[in-house]
Amino acid sequence: MNYHFDEIIERRGTLARKWSKENLVKEFQTDDVLPMWIADMDIACPPPVVAAMKKVASQRIYGYTFVPDSYYQAVIDWNERRHHWRIRKNWITLTHGTVSTLHYIVQAFCQQGDKVITQTPGYQPFQRAVEHHECELLCNPLIYQDGSYELDLDDLEEKAKDPRAKMLIFCNPHNPTGRVWTAAELKSVAQICLKHNVLLVSDEIHKDIGLYGNSPVSLASVSADIADHCIICVSPNKAFNFGGLKSSYTVIPNEAIRIRLQEQLAVNSVTSPNVFAVPALIAAYTECDEWLDQLTAYIEKNVDTVRTFLAERLPEFRMVEPESTYLIWLDVSRLGITNSELMNVLLFKGKVAFEDGNDFISDGEGFLRINVGCPHATVLEALNRMAGCFTT
Ligand SMILES: Cc1ncc(COP(=O)(O)O)c(C=O)c1O
Repeated sequence: MNYHFDEIIERRGTLARKWSKENLVKEFQTDDVLPMWIADMDIACPPPVVAAMKKVASQRIYGYTFVPDSYYQAVIDWNERRHHWRIRKNWITLTHGTVSTLHYIVQAFCQQGDKVITQTPGYQPFQRAVEHHECELLCNPLIYQDGSYELDLDDLEEKAKDPRAKMLIFCNPHNPTGRVWTAAELKSVAQICLKHNVLLVSDEIHKDIGLYGNSPVSLASVSADIADHCIICVSPNKAFNFGGLKSSYTVIPNEAIRIRLQEQLAVNSVTSPNVFAVPALIAAYTECDEWLDQLTAYIEKNVDTVRTFLAERLPEFRMVEPESTYLIWLDVSRLGITNSELMNVLLFKGKVAFEDGNDFISDGEGFLRINVGCPHATVLEALNRMAGCFTT
């Protein structure tokens, strides 16, 4: 079956954070913009997911949810089929969103004053998860060279040596740079953490969309040793576009680590999942492989368009080639203006809202992030608005 991703769906008035006028004013001081920021897509969920949601809605009673075996089987089969990662049922724990799970993980495994490492630029909520629990974030800046990003393993080792460094929150694949870490890179990171007894927490929410033949690898699938020292955070939300359902889970092979997190979830009363979350995951993981393959090809086409457009019309902008997901990290440093000046021009002259690179913990000055998880026409409109700011 062929899916059509070109449909423009009106999202204003739907309580979408990305499009809500009220929220745009709060975030950008104007609602008169084309929103290309936050990481959800302006693309309809796959038809089997929509059908599953309609079925739940039509039940008319939305009581507490039971999680059936078919949920666990869907998770097991999906990870084996799509990621060659074999997991067992008892390794899986349901959670209510990846970000809140990271907060519970910090609560469970860190004491006040402990340190948590992450790579920068990085996903801002990692910093909040650490600092809200009175721990300190240690930034391990990625190395930006020749238009792409590498890990700085020497610096990581320096940080991991700190006796108060208890955890690494690792983004695999990486938001915002779009890097898909290779098995060799994952192994190097893990070896450093294992040597210094730093718990590995891998946020793998972007793993389902590998672009241009890149296949993201789960950290836990690299070796049994690594699997025994890590927590993997997973969610179908990004690939299938139902972030509002807060459908997520952890995979933890090590029993002691798993029980400790489960106790922390119990302390926070994380119990029955949202009534829509379970059927959405089952539908996505069992009936939507073809949809996701076609979506991935569509996103590649959008990325290709950005690359060509920039080369022809805005050569000062340089795209960091994304290897995964629908988010493009754009190097704007050659413009010779600050991010805040550029954001103002784009927002108030171009009427387009990208994500400021400075929203990504640190090392984001000189960069913007563009969300191309949208119809092709929207990408072109955003690019034209951007170009309009720089042509007289
Ligand atoms: C790396 C990463 N983790 C987590 C999330 C959000 O996850 P959730 O909606 O499941 O809390 C995002 C959303 O953009 C993300 O990029």
